[in-house]
Amino acid sequence: MPGFLRGALLGFFGLVIGIQVIRPARTNPPVDQSHTLEAVVFVPARVESILQRACSDCHSDLTRWPWYSNVAPISWFVIDDVNSGRRQANFSEWLRRDTNNPAEFTQQRFHSLCRQVQTHAMPLTSYLALHPEARLSPADIETFCQWTDAGLLPN
Ligand code: HEC
Repeated sequence: MPGFLRGALLGFFGLVIGIQVIRPARTNPPVDQSHTLEAVVFVPARVESILQRACSDCHSDLTRWPWYSNVAPISWFVIDDVNSGRRQANFSEWLRRDTNNPAEFTQQRFHSLCRQVQTHAMPLTSYLALHPEARLSPADIETFCQWTDAGLLPN
């Protein structure tokens, strides 16, 4: 192998190993059952299963971290998706502390949830590539939006 190629390869692997020291935290904060989505609204079993297989990894505190979420630089993207997903909507901590009108908050969020699913913006394409089981069928999408349209059935 020519010397320059060897140098380049060594440099590359050195870099891959070197960046492993940058490890943003993978968190799964404890869940207070009285704060969950299920505590606030009725979630039928069919919808619950959609949420769990297609959304919860990024929109709850019960993330199942895949092995590659340990490997930089993939880990950085995965952890960032989970953190920003949770900020947008967290099924484990449904009502934000600053919410003073839970009904209105849920109504707005529901509208957005259905829209994201209908436009195939969610689940994220990058997630679908590695989690084919998260793909939603037209029937799933209909079930999902019927639930959000029904709105606020108190639990
Ligand atoms: C791989 C992680 C991931 C998965 C899986 C995922 N989301 Fe998201 N979601 C995000 C991220 C990141 C954002 C914020 C950035 C953005 O808008 O792209 C977000 C934003 C959202 C928002 C707020 C959008 C807005 O602009 O108001 C909603 C609602 C949402 N997701 C619903 C869902 C639903 C419903 C599912 C399951 C069908 C789902 N997401 C699956 C990562 C994810």
